[in-house]
This record gives sequence, structure tokens and C-alpha cells, in this order.
Amino acid sequence: MILGQAGPAVQCDFHHLGQVPTSSAKLVHQLGQVPTSSTKLVHQLGQVPTSSTKLVHQLGQVPTSSAKLVHQFSQVPTSSTKLVHQLGQVPTSSTKLVHQLGQVPTSSTKLVHQLGQVPTSSTKLVHQLGQVPTSSTKLVHQLGQLSKTYGSVVTIWLANTPVVIISGYKALKETMVGLGDEFSGRAIYPLLMKATYGYGVLSTSGHRWKEMRKFSLATMKNFGMGRRSIEERVKEEAENLVEMLKKSEGSAFNPADMLLNAVGNVICSIVFGHRFEFEDPQFKSLLRTVNTYFAILSSPLGQIYNIFPRLVSLFPGKHHQLFKDLEEAREYCKREAQARMNILDPSSPQDFIEAFLLKMNEEKDNPDTEFHFDNLVSLVWNLFSAGTETTSSTIRYALLLMMKHPDVQERVQREIDEVIGQDRWPSIEDRQNLPYTDAVIHEVQRCMDIAPIAVPHKMMCDTKYNGYVIPKGVMVFPLLSSVLIDPNLWKNPNCFDPENFLDADGRFQKNDAFVVFGMGKRACLGEALARIELFIFFTSLLQHFTFKAMVPPEELDTTSINCSFGRMPRTYECYAISKK
Ligand code: HEM
Repeated sequence: MILGQAGPAVQCDFHHLGQVPTSSAKLVHQLGQVPTSSTKLVHQLGQVPTSSTKLVHQLGQVPTSSAKLVHQFSQVPTSSTKLVHQLGQVPTSSTKLVHQLGQVPTSSTKLVHQLGQVPTSSTKLVHQLGQVPTSSTKLVHQLGQLSKTYGSVVTIWLANTPVVIISGYKALKETMVGLGDEFSGRAIYPLLMKATYGYGVLSTSGHRWKEMRKFSLATMKNFGMGRRSIEERVKEEAENLVEMLKKSEGSAFNPADMLLNAVGNVICSIVFGHRFEFEDPQFKSLLRTVNTYFAILSSPLGQIYNIFPRLVSLFPGKHHQLFKDLEEAREYCKREAQARMNILDPSSPQDFIEAFLLKMNEEKDNPDTEFHFDNLVSLVWNLFSAGTETTSSTIRYALLLMMKHPDVQERVQREIDEVIGQDRWPSIEDRQNLPYTDAVIHEVQRCMDIAPIAVPHKMMCDTKYNGYVIPKGVMVFPLLSSVLIDPNLWKNPNCFDPENFLDADGRFQKNDAFVVFGMGKRACLGEALARIELFIFFTSLLQHFTFKAMVPPEELDTTSINCSFGRMPRTYECYAISKK
């Protein structure tokens, strides 16, 4: 049987639906806050603009009425037109609302059929109808609840799109690892495509993805490029960062930019073979583009763009500047590559781009080769964008947790003092002698849960799992979060506790449930680099400074802010008090 609109998952979930409405009236009743105006409807549809005016404002233009909005949308595809009609009409009763959301169902069965699988609460239903949850935290929580109720394989509908949620360690291992090829596709998001045009590694599938991934992993391996190891490149940036922080001279500062610069420079050193001064206009422009990219990905604008790209493209707004900046970043990568074309030394590529160009040369007579400029430029963008925000935000979160838990910070510093001292810089070999510090870094990552649904996958072929056939092309969310907080897998899953990674003798204890980098064939390509960066940056910072917040620890907010694919720490200001 096939999982999908009329498949067993529908029946299966329907079977479980304890509170399925028995009539449309009851459904509307369940919606709880039936909107009495288009404003409320828009709100319920998930986007949080408080009115259609605000929605349009977010898109970049302020129409004076919903009529004008409809007019502005008049040359767009039918589905968008339908949305605009929905946004523009004011339902005066619950019946009308149901009518606007689709067709008035005559029975609960028909309704369930129309909506796909209806979860048990009104909020979830509205999310399903409107796509775009109001916050990723909320969505992830709701997905977790759904899995608790319906099991480790659940289908939800985001607008018209079925999405299969896989949760729990066992199911994730069986699918992402056991059926690795089948689950290895990448779901397509218009904003991701806008940056890479279907090339590179992060948003590709099949043969192209395999070729790009194999090459990237081999090239990024430690000691893989030139004479300098990746660790050396990271150490250089850590030392620069420490020098820079010393200049803050005890005044409060926001560490976000400095950390982003340091981590960004590691990638630049690997990819372009050189670092940038922090004030370099080209560097600033690249980092600004990554920053805006993530900000827009996480915003209502980005979420609407991912559903109605053609529609949103008709509106002026921040996204157009981003698209220009992305083009500029691609042009820069091309210039960097072209500048190397004639000076390549086949025996000793100095950076990632040179290694790729040599491979291009090697394959120049292969008409089907994936080694060409389009893949190179998108690959460089993938590494740069995936490798900067993630690592720098994790270090930022680590410092926040150290301020929240000064006792933990003190114990880490004591361990560093005993093992490394103050006279040399930390290196990766120190890790095995710093079990507590290692446990703290792992626990920071577990608590941060930076990518609760990884980066959405796509089925490569019809695949049988757990009694269902999941059809080719269906989007899959691997709910990594469900593993990171499973009480059966962690001593203390619900709060920050380095003991989660320590045995009774205080030795570092590995745990297979540490899945922050994903699982299986699509797991993070930069994991090895990220682990080196987190260790070297964190230990170097705590070797030299004690971090203190501007408010007492108990007032520090360590909850994350929303981001479409991930969780990010809140911005904060702090003091870095020199230890010497
Ligand atoms: C704390 C740091 C990081 C975390 C927690 C992290 C986490 C992740 C996760 C969860 C995925 C998706 C896995 C999936 O789809 O199942 C991913 C993919 C990816 N990451 Fe990372 N990442 C980090 C750092 C990095 C760095 C430093 C780089 C680059 C050098 C990088 C490059 C990538 C790429 C290219 C992919 C896509 C792989 C593919 O599609 O095959 N990441 N990462």
C-alpha cells in the first residue's frame, strides 16, 4: 500500500484520531479561535503578520486594502490567486471560513480525506492548512507530540505537500542508515535553489550529489590540501580571535560578529587558500550575504517565498537585494577560480578550489562530468554558508551557557589550566586529556539542538518501511530532536548537564544518540572540521578569558530564537575578563 493521500498512513492516522471531528461544525469548533476577519485568518494561517497589510509590508510593499492586494496579485498562478482571495475575504462565520479553506465537507471522513491526516488539536490543523508554523520551536514540539501519539512514522500535510516525519533513534537508524540510499534525496526549497541553481552538494540528489560529496569529503580531510593542516588554519583564527577579544579591555560587547569572522575565515582559508582582514570589503560582503540569507530563510518572507516563489518575486523587498548579493558572491567565487586556472600545480593544490580545478582538468574529456564551474561555484557557496552560521552560533551558545553556569565554566578552566596551562595554545591531541571540557562541548550541542529536523530529505524511490510504502519524491523530516531528548537515552535529557557525556569515573562517554550532525549518507559533510573548530575555539577562549554576563546568571535567557531550519541562540552582550 502506498503512503499518501489515499494510502494507509491516512487510514492509519485516521484510525488513531481520537478527536476527529464528526461534523464540519465540530471541526470549526475545534479550531477554537475561528477567525472573524481576514486579519485573524492570516494570523491563523501561520505567518503571524497581524494583518494582510503587515504581510504585504513584510513582502516589501504596503497596499491600502485587501482589494489592492488582490489586484497586485492579478497576474499570478491560480493557487496564489486562491490564497490572495482567502486572505482578502472576510469570513463572517465559521461556515464561511471552512468554505474559504476549501470545500465544505459533508462528513468527517470526507474532511479528513481532504485535509490529509488531521492531527488532534486545532493549532496543528491550522498549521497544516496554512503551512508555515509560527515558530520552528513550536513546530518541532508539535511534531514530537504527533510522534508520541501516532508512532515513529507520521505523515503531515504542509499546504498541499505530504511530509513524512521519522522520529526516535531506532526508526532513524533503520531509515537514514539502513535504507540510506532510499532516504538520501534532498527536498527542494526555492530559496536554496536561488543560491545554487540545483548544483553543488547541499540541495542536490542522486549522481551529482554523490560526486560532489565524495570529492568534498576527500578534499576536506585533514592534511588534504597544501602544506597546512586544517587544524593549523583553525588555530591561527583562534589566536587572532583571542587577540581581538583582548582589545575589548573589559567593556561589554556582542561576540557574534567576531565569532562569525573567525569561523568564516577558516572556511576562506580552506576554500580560497587565504584569510581576510576583518575589515576587508569582500569578506564583509560575503559574511553579510550569508547572514541575510539565514535571516531571510528564517523570516515569514522566506517562508512565503518557499511556498509561492513566483508570487513573492513580483513584490519589491529585501529578497531582491539578497538575490543580487548571492549573484555577487557567485561572481567572486568564479573570479577566484579563474585567477587560478593558469597557475595550477598538479602536484600540490593549495586550496579547495585548486583541487576542484585539477579534477576538472582530469575529467575534461568526459562529456558527463560533474566537475564544471556551475558545480564548483555552488559547492563553494554550500561550504561557506553551511559552515559559518552553524559553528559560530554553537560557540556563541557555548559562551552563553558558561555564563549561565559559572560553576561549569570554572571546572572547564581548571581542567585546561592543569592539562595545557597558559604557555601554549590548545591542540586537538589535548582533547583526550580534557574529558570534562569535551563533555561540555557535546552537551552544549545536544542542548542547542541546532537542526531539529536536519535539512529536509526526499525519497529517491518508492520504499517500504514499517508496513508503509513511502513514494519516491516525498519529503522526509528526520526528527533529530526526538533522539536528543529521549529519556531512555540520556541520564538527564531536559537540562544542561555535562554528566550526560561522562561515566562514573569522570571519563568522556560517547553516546550514539548524539545525532546533532544528522545520520547516514546525508549527515553533515563538515562534521570533522566543525569538531576541530568547536574544540580549538572553545578551549582557546576559556584558556584566556572568563565570560560574564551583564545580568545575573538566573536572568540569562538560554532559549533559542526561531529559524526555519534551525535553532539559534539569542544575541547578548558580555564581558571577556582576561585571566592573566
Ligand atoms: C556545529 C556545526 C555543524 C552542525 C551541528 C551541522 C549539522 C548539519 C546537519 C544536521 C546537516 C543535515 C544532515 C541531513 O540532511 O540529514 C548538515 C549538512 C551539511 N553540513 Fe553541516 N553542520 C555543522 C557544521 C558544518 C561545517 C563547518 C560545514 C562545512 C564545511 C558543514 C557543511 C555541511 C554540508 C555541505 C551539508 C550538506 C551535506 C549533504 O547534503 O550531503 N557543516 N550539517
